[in-house]
Amino acid sequence: MIKLFQSWWKNRGKRSVAALPADNIPEHVAIIMDGNGRWARNKGLPRIVGHRNGMKAVKRATIAADELGIRILTLYAFSTENWKRPKDEVDFLMSLPQEFLALELEELIEKNVQVRMMGHTDNLPRHTLEAMEEAVSRTENNTGLILNFALNYGSRREMTESMKVIAREVQTGQLSPEDITEEMINSHLLSQGLSDPDLLIRTGGELRLSNFMLWQAAYSELWFTDLYWPEFGREQLVEAVAEYQRRTRRYGGLS
Ligand code: IPE
Ligand code: IPE
Ligand code: MG
Repeated sequence: MIKLFQSWWKNRGKRSVAALPADNIPEHVAIIMDGNGRWARNKGLPRIVGHRNGMKAVKRATIAADELGIRILTLYAFSTENWKRPKDEVDFLMSLPQEFLALELEELIEKNVQVRMMGHTDNLPRHTLEAMEEAVSRTENNTGLILNFALNYGSRREMTESMKVIAREVQTGQLSPEDITEEMINSHLLSQGLSDPDLLIRTGGELRLSNFMLWQAAYSELWFTDLYWPEFGREQLVEAVAEYQRRTRRYGGLS
């Protein structure tokens, strides 16, 4: 009896993955990783402890996404609005990519993961940008899961900057206004080359997008959980994907 329980316990995650129909796995899952601070506060710990534990959840989510056969995992790590936080917290958050990649890059390479970064690079600290650039260049030829970090990302800034580029192209006569299409706008966004998120997850209980992929999420399926990000793992990802598989996507048409 005990043996039976032990084997069930050991395999419980794997079983739930196997139970998901493989033909309807979302290609692109994007996650707003929220609730690190509240997780820490509830335990009487400083907010940065929440962020450090959030890093462990990043690893769990990456492994689970890879095993589920998800092609792209986009993780919202820092928004263009998060600079408003106290300097100590911002400095800590800006040190996390380096810390995470020092621990995990070799394993990511081994697992054939391709790391990407989606965000504004001009005002990132050098050490943060260099750590990201190293991971991106060392994994650029990998063909497995695309792990896309939305770091210093803001949808409105992304769209504003794209519009400026397009406007300049019109001004110089390279383009006429009629050439502006949805595909063309897509190709000017920071997410260029990536499909739109099929499933958008937010942890931490807030029901909002907080300036995340506003254009790209036009038809994403949304899934919210009250769990804080440091509590997120394979079980929650499986639950979200299972719920996604029960939905009917109509894109404005009829099913
Ligand atoms: C998410 O957790 C991480 C970032 C926004 C960088 P928070 O730090 O927002 O945690 P809460 O929402 O305050 O609990
Ligand atoms: C969204 O969380 C940004 C990230 C998860 C990186 P926030 O905590 O910044 O969002 P708001 O302020 O609650 O909307
Ligand atoms: Mg938050």
